[in-house]
Amino acid sequence: MNEILKIQKVSKCYGKQKVLEDVSLSLEPGEILGLVGPNGAGKTTLMKIITGLIRRYDGEVFIKEENIKSSKASNTKKVGCVIETPGFYPNLTGYENLLFFAEISGMKDKKDIDEIVRNVGIESYIHKKVKQYSLGMKQRLGVAQAVLSYPPVLILDEPTNGLDPAIVPEFRRFIKQIAKEKNTAVLISSHILSEIELMCDKVAFIQNGKIIRLESMKNEDSMRAKVAFKTSKIEKLENFFKEINMSYVVISDSELRVEMDKTSIEDLVLKISKADIPLRSINEVRESLEQKYLNTMRGE
Ligand SMILES: Nc1ncnc2c1ncn2[C@@H]1O[C@H](COP(=O)(O)OP(=O)(O)OP(=O)(O)O)[C@@H](O)[C@H]1O
Ligand SMILES: [Mg+2]
Repeated sequence: MNEILKIQKVSKCYGKQKVLEDVSLSLEPGEILGLVGPNGAGKTTLMKIITGLIRRYDGEVFIKEENIKSSKASNTKKVGCVIETPGFYPNLTGYENLLFFAEISGMKDKKDIDEIVRNVGIESYIHKKVKQYSLGMKQRLGVAQAVLSYPPVLILDEPTNGLDPAIVPEFRRFIKQIAKEKNTAVLISSHILSEIELMCDKVAFIQNGKIIRLESMKNEDSMRAKVAFKTSKIEKLENFFKEINMSYVVISDSELRVEMDKTSIEDLVLKISKADIPLRSINEVRESLEQKYLNTMRGE
């Protein structure tokens, strides 16, 4: 195992309320893990623990094999983060803020600042004072700060909250690029499931402080597929499946679905047409992340 971030049985209480319960997760370099769940599920709390903003909790968090509880030094070099509204010095410009942060995180090469500023698309206002920034502008400066020293672990808590939708694809591309080129492990939370779906390798569903499902987003992983058949002769098609002993689900008076091995789809379609059953369409049904989310949170 080549894990860079390892979370082991982390629990956290606020008074009598248990907000995290036995959370275990791990991330490899270059991997992007999405964290999704309802308001108050514990996403921000978990991220604060990983970044060292919360120091009292049960369980262990390892970054590069080092337990963050026992590492005295702040882990800003190893973890870049955007959690809630990043704190900047309002009277300094965006550039001066980044420079200051580069200084304290011991970054040597200042040239990288310009590259990052370009990449997150904030050149046009980087020399303006931060107090004049809009929410989205601050958010983007926050992302720039988080990736500044190309830390091995990047924590992004709802990073696109408040961002102009036109920028979001660009942002997504940038994060994927960092993960790939710099081998950064990224943990990202968002309520925008389509975004998580497009960006992440894995998704963890969290509810009431517990990870209730962990899912790979790589469809190729699965050999099985759900296939929808549409026909005007639904009864004939039903009989066909009964005869070959394949279970199916009738969706409507012109559609039924089967779950089967991907490799035998072509063969099956041939057999159906040989049996003289007309087909209007055949397609693989993919459950969207939104659908998975709804099913998971309802406990299905
Ligand atoms: N400082 C605190 N003191 C007491 N309770 C807290 C504190 N911070 C968070 N909580 C509680 O912990 C639980 C988890 O909160 P958290 O912010 O981690 O949720 P979240 O998953 O990030 O939600 P959201 O999607 O709304 O951002 C909530 O019930 C919240 O009320
Ligand atoms: Mg939160």
